[in-house]
Amino acid sequence: MFSHPDFDGHERIVHAFDAASGLRAIVAIHSTALGPSFGGCRMWPYADDGSALSDALRLSRAMTFKCAIVGVPYGGGKSVIIGDPRTAKSDALLTAMARIVESLGGSYIIADDVGTSLADLAVMRGTTSHTAATTTSAMQPLPVTAHGVFSAMVATAVHVFGTSGLAGRTVAIQGLGNVGGPLCDLVAAAGARLIVADLDPGRVADAVHRHGAHALPPDRVVEADADILAPCALGGVLDAATIPRLRVSLVCGGANNQLAGPDAAAALARRGIVYIPDYLAGAGGVIDFHQERIDDRPQATLSAVAAIGRITTDVLTQAAAKGDTPLGICNQMVAQRLATADRTNRSRAS
Ligand code: NAI
Repeated sequence: MFSHPDFDGHERIVHAFDAASGLRAIVAIHSTALGPSFGGCRMWPYADDGSALSDALRLSRAMTFKCAIVGVPYGGGKSVIIGDPRTAKSDALLTAMARIVESLGGSYIIADDVGTSLADLAVMRGTTSHTAATTTSAMQPLPVTAHGVFSAMVATAVHVFGTSGLAGRTVAIQGLGNVGGPLCDLVAAAGARLIVADLDPGRVADAVHRHGAHALPPDRVVEADADILAPCALGGVLDAATIPRLRVSLVCGGANNQLAGPDAAAALARRGIVYIPDYLAGAGGVIDFHQERIDDRPQATLSAVAAIGRITTDVLTQAAAKGDTPLGICNQMVAQRLATADRTNRSRAS
């Protein structure tokens, strides 16, 4: 475990099995330095246990970074349930998962993710109070991640192109799901041209029909003749094969873990392509969760998510002043916040 390539000082990793319901799950708590860990529960038919563990380790770490960069008082956690959500999900299984969450005493707050829904959280609430979406308003889906990506994108365009927004720019969006779909609406409304790609022809047709988007085959969207690329589908999309093919000036999207490896950030910087860290652009969900406990009216939540744009401007300004990349600046900010919180927590404990 401790030599696992994705292990990064995680505080706690729980492997859970419940014979009666068939639950096989992993909960990874990366950090509680800033507060109780928060993160979604992914249900997926992983090919093997190792892939499930890697996912839990990487995604929980990303949650720590998301919470820290936007300054909400939560840490990073994630859970995965091994199984096909279409066939293996049951109330008994969700209840067994909720018992695991309850046993963690509030150090992990569970949210919805790929393969789980707000309705599943409602089932879990019969057993644990440590779930997201506890208010009526929070039970309504709101495209917070798309709004966060959009505000980061506008802030970056203003900084890089010296314009007032996205009007007249061309934005290529890869993946037209929960994030990419509403992002199309926001980008089109801002006066930008759209290039889109998705494996689902219906989603592409919809974007073409509604916004006059230009469609590209999924394997060609990285070479779109555009100003901005917004990866909103898969992780690992920026690698040694795709980075040389990019024709955009900046990359800003919602997909988690866009960089295939540590070399990818340097390769983008060498090409002069501005990369907004995925954990900043895609942090709308953690702000939404925090807002749930303050004022979760939709308009208040969307206003709070707009903070991502202000943080992006600050990061870009610092990056320009220090000759660093936005990723370098964000990583430093996160490290500083976690170190300060660790010191404070230690001095409180002693
Ligand atoms: P989704 O499953 O609703 O949509 C993903 C879309 O990408 C699908 O339409 C799929 O057909 C398409 N796709 C898959 N492979 C593709 C490819 N090779 N080329 C083009 N399109 C492809 O997923 P969702 O929720 O929109 O999430 C997208 C990304 O954003 C994921 O990486 C997710 O982890 C991340 N994310 C999502 C958040 C959310 O609130 N939904 C929050 C933060 C990050």
